[in-house]
Amino acid sequence: MTEPLVLALDQGTTSSRALLFAADGRVVAGAQREFPQLFPQPGAVEHDPEAIWDSQLATAKEALAAGFKPAALGLTNQRETVVLWDRTTGRPVTNAIVWQSRVSAPVCERLKGEGLEPLFRDRTGLLLDPYFTGTKLTHLFETHAGLRARCERGDVLAGTVDSFLLWRLTGGRRHVTDASNASRTLLFNLSTGDWDEELCGLLNVPRACLPEIVDSAGRLTETDPAVLGERLPVCGLAGDQQAATFGQGCLTPGSAKNTYGTGCFLLMNTGGTPVPSANRLLTTVGWRIGGRTTFCLEGAVLVAGAAVQWLRDGLGLFENAAEVEALAETVPDAGGVTFVPAFVGLGAPYWRPDARGTIAGITRGTTRGHIARAALEAIAHRTRDVVEAMNADLSEMGKDGAGLPPLTRLNADGGASRNDLLMQTQADLLGVPVRRTAVAEITAFGAARLAGLGTGVWPEEPPTALCDRDFLPRIDPAEADRRHAAWGRAVRGCLPTAE
Ligand code: G3P
Repeated sequence: MTEPLVLALDQGTTSSRALLFAADGRVVAGAQREFPQLFPQPGAVEHDPEAIWDSQLATAKEALAAGFKPAALGLTNQRETVVLWDRTTGRPVTNAIVWQSRVSAPVCERLKGEGLEPLFRDRTGLLLDPYFTGTKLTHLFETHAGLRARCERGDVLAGTVDSFLLWRLTGGRRHVTDASNASRTLLFNLSTGDWDEELCGLLNVPRACLPEIVDSAGRLTETDPAVLGERLPVCGLAGDQQAATFGQGCLTPGSAKNTYGTGCFLLMNTGGTPVPSANRLLTTVGWRIGGRTTFCLEGAVLVAGAAVQWLRDGLGLFENAAEVEALAETVPDAGGVTFVPAFVGLGAPYWRPDARGTIAGITRGTTRGHIARAALEAIAHRTRDVVEAMNADLSEMGKDGAGLPPLTRLNADGGASRNDLLMQTQADLLGVPVRRTAVAEITAFGAARLAGLGTGVWPEEPPTALCDRDFLPRIDPAEADRRHAAWGRAVRGCLPTAE
C-alpha cells in the first residue's frame, strides 16, 4: 500500500485503542483493549497508570504488526486525568486520579470560599470543579507526604495522560503536553497560552513538575525505536474531545459536535478568540497549529454512556451495552420513570459535585425496559441542558451584540451514537437534526488528521461524505418542552439543597 497512513493512539477512559488510518477515514488496521476502573471510595475514580500504558502499548504493537508503515503518529487522550511519575525510573508514584473523580471537591470549596472562582474563570475559562486537573494535584500534595517537595525538585513529573504516554513513548526524553490538554488543568492562561504562575501558586503546584506546552500539530517529537520497534514522528496531539471536534470537520466558527462516550462532550468552534460563557459552559482551547489557537465553547456532561454501563455492571440488566437499545424498544416510553445518572455530581451547566443519582417515578408496573429507556432519555436531556446554555451564550454574542443564531444541527459521534433510539430521542428533544458521522472512531481519526496535517502527508481539507445518517425531529416542540420541563424537576430533586 503506497497511500500515506497515520497511526492514531486513542487513550480513553475505559479502553485504549490504536488505529491505522488512511486519509479518507478508512481504518486499515486496529486494536482495542479495556483496562480496570478503580473505585477506592464513593466519588473517587482511579486508574493504574501502568495498566493505561500496557493497554496502549499492546494495541499500538498489534496495529503495527499488520505490517504497514505509518508516516506519522497522532495521540489523543482522556483529558484532565492526572498522572505523577518518577523522572528517573518512569514509574508512577500514585494511581492516576481520573477526570470523573470528586476527591478534590473540598479543595474546590475552599478556593470558592476564598472568592477565587472569578479569577480562575477569567484566566482559564474553567470553573472550580473537581473535574479539572489542578485541584486533583492540590489534593494529592495535601494527602501524600513529601510528594510536593519531590515535584518541586523536578524528581517527580506531573501531567495529563498524554504527557505520561509521551514520556514513555520517547524513552523518557520529552515531557510535553499540547495546548488543548493544558487548557483543562486550571493552570493554563488562555490569553498568554502558557502556565499561569499565580494560579500555580494558588493551587500549590510547582512549575518544575509541569510539561512544556506544544502545538497540537507539527513535528512535535518522535518515538524511541526501543519502545515501538521503530522511530515514528509524533505529529498530532490533542485532548480526545478536541480531536473529535477536529475529526468531525468543525473547522469554522459555529459548527459543533457532541461525543456520546463515557460522558457527553459538546464542543462548538468559536474561532480565534476565547469567548467567555455567561451560562456556565467552559471556554477551552480547541487546537493550536502554527502557534495559532482555535477556541471552543464546551458543555461537559460527566455521565452518559457510563449510565448504560451501570445498568450492565451495577444492575446486571444485560451483558453487552449495545443491548440497551433493544431493551428500551420493548416499551413505547419510559412509563413515567426519570433516571438522573448524577453518579459523580452534575457537570455543565449545573456544576454540582454534591448531586447524586436518582431513579424516580417507579411503579409496580415498571420494567427493565422502562429503566433502560429512561437512561437513554437522560443522555438526550443532559445534552439539551447544554444546548440551551450554548444557545443562550450565542444569543448574547455577535460583534454588535445582536446575537448569533442558535445551533441548527448537531454532529454526533462516539460509541453510544450508534444507538438509533438515542439519536432519534436527541433530535426530538432538541428540535434540530442530528447528523451521525460515518467514521465510528472519529476521535482517533481527529488525532490522525492532526498528525497527517502536522507531517504534511494528508491534505488540509477534511474528507467529505462523513455523514452516516441524519435524524430529524419527529415530535411537536411543545411536547419536547414539556418532557424537558419534567426532566428539570427531576434534576432539582437530586440536589442536596434545592435551588
Ligand atoms: O473530559 C473527559 C473526556 O476527555 C473523557 O472522554 O471518551 O474517555 O469518555 P472519554
